[in-house]
Amino acid sequence: MIHELYRKLQFPDLGDERGKLVVAEGDLDVPFPIQRVFYIYGSDDTVVRGQHANRESEFVLINVAGSSKVMITDGENREIVELKRPMEGLYIPRMIWKEMYDFSPDSVLLVLASTHYDGAEYIRDFDEYKREIEQTRVLPD
Ligand code: TYD
Repeated sequence: MIHELYRKLQFPDLGDERGKLVVAEGDLDVPFPIQRVFYIYGSDDTVVRGQHANRESEFVLINVAGSSKVMITDGENREIVELKRPMEGLYIPRMIWKEMYDFSPDSVLLVLASTHYDGAEYIRDFDEYKREIEQTRVLPD
């Protein structure tokens, strides 16, 4: 595999008898400085979100409540990761195609991003994604 598809992150859980506290610091627990935070909720198990790759942005996905699944592919390799723990993050590098689905009714999917939003860096067409990723693949000698 030439491109890393994803990395699972484990965040420090500083919970005590008063309850849980999970920390995700940019450049420390998360492998980039965090520029943007957004969260997805109110989606159900009939919805597929994402369906795009980003030329510039890296993301960390955390199901802070409930659960969801993420399908990640580089056009050749394909993995499905289930997110269901608030202290677990899924790091997705640039130029990886992702689809989020199977949201539980209580799912709150928190997303940390390495960039401010720019719709122009999104690739929303899978064929276009495959063309672009093909160009970045290093050919063996
Ligand atoms: P979209 O990328 O389709 O969401 P998802 O990947 O979860 O399926 O985004 C939905 C809308 O929100 C779209 O019009 C773009 C807008 N948007 C922003 O303005 N800023 C953001 O940071 C994000 C993630 C989306």
